Amino acid sequence: MDSLVIEGGARLRGTIHVNGSKNAALPIMAGALLASGPTYLREVPNLSDINHQVNLLRELGCVVERQADGQMKIEVTDEKNSHARYDLVRKMRASICVLGPLLAKRKFARVSMPGGCAIGDRPVDIHLRGLEALGAVIDLDGGDIICRADKLTGAEIFLGGNFGSTVLGTANVMSAATLAKGTTVIESAACEPEVVDLANYLNAMGAKITGAGTPRITIEGVAELTGTSHTVIPDRIEAGTFMVAAAITNGEIHLDNCRLGDLLAVVDKLRSIGVIVEKNNGGATISSVRRLEASNITTQPHPGFPTDLQAQFMALLAIADGNSVITEKIFPDRFLHVAELARLGARLHKEGSTVVIQGQKKLVGAPVMASDLRASAALVLAGLCAKGTTTVMRVYHIDRGYEKIEQRLNAVGANIKRVNQEELEL
Ligand code: EPU
Repeated sequence: MDSLVIEGGARLRGTIHVNGSKNAALPIMAGALLASGPTYLREVPNLSDINHQVNLLRELGCVVERQADGQMKIEVTDEKNSHARYDLVRKMRASICVLGPLLAKRKFARVSMPGGCAIGDRPVDIHLRGLEALGAVIDLDGGDIICRADKLTGAEIFLGGNFGSTVLGTANVMSAATLAKGTTVIESAACEPEVVDLANYLNAMGAKITGAGTPRITIEGVAELTGTSHTVIPDRIEAGTFMVAAAITNGEIHLDNCRLGDLLAVVDKLRSIGVIVEKNNGGATISSVRRLEASNITTQPHPGFPTDLQAQFMALLAIADGNSVITEKIFPDRFLHVAELARLGARLHKEGSTVVIQGQKKLVGAPVMASDLRASAALVLAGLCAKGTTTVMRVYHIDRGYEKIEQRLNAVGANIKRVNQEELEL
């Protein structure tokens, strides 16, 4: 198992290319199950979560290959197996996004029910409610969701829940509705850019979707979808993480392939705490020249502040001047990074789904344990500014969502080594 050993204190300076979005690519890859003919995807990042999705699609009868130019080609060659096994789903709960496409195209799907994960309970009740409204009959057997529908029929569907809408739930219902008979209207749809990217891709396949990016999405069912080519949008969470890397080291990073329009709440927050964010040539430059100010953050569905950057901003506010408050409204238990940041000297007080942060002048390096993807990113960021050495253990979590993070940060001046556990113990 690998660890990252970080010598803190370097000011980062240079350019980083933002990769394609993991969370856009996963449902788009699942959407290829709907196509007759090959699908070609550009900017699919090279990540362990993407590899899990490739393995799942192969089990479901697809030929998936990376071509020499980096494009991913997906082609369905056999529709006999519609079972996403627990073994695969437990490695990556986003596997649930094959449910809608399988049901619509093959009239049957058996997908293992994803369990909870390090960021809390992650039910899929709203996904199932949406598919039932389209006419699916759903049973649970041996921990598997079994979904059947001889035909799907358009319907008016409310997808809101206690914590807002659902991103992958919207992806599942929208994908299934593309082949339903008649019109589907999804109310309280997720507005995330990843949903818009999926809708653009499905439309390029022949679907008739309007309103993606707003809370009301309308889908006119069509008889068939064909393979297409599509470029996945840049990863806004990766971009936001690198923005924090610039801010936390008082550095200056230019981000290529970064859509600031997808990050308005984040940019607004950065500016309010004293970070300079400038838009330029298809990207942005983020710099910081002074001690940052405290601020309060509440995570919300898009276009609000994303839960996927909550941990990284906690690391940043840990060294700001004054007290900050972070409230998590999407995953109220997403706080496993709190105790680890405290090991680096962050002063944090957690009460329910709120954390009060008493800003310190500096953090001090220590061994810490990564618990989930974004928590790991927060620990790496904290390590970049901490005095001395920070060792982030179990970094396989970070490899799920950031491609070669240490190489990309080292290229702009960081000092991070990847070592395996045995080397550490010598
Ligand atoms: N929820 C329900 N019932 C459902 C579905 C969701 O109650 O049927 C609740 C969840 O428990 C949560 C809220 O609704 O409280 C929102 O969850 P959502 O369904 O939107 O999450 P998701 O679609 O499973 C995606 C991202 C997450 C990101 C969330 C929120 C992917 C692959 N995952 O998950 O990304 O945090 O949206 O924006 O797109 C990550 O990349 O680190 C990550 C966890």
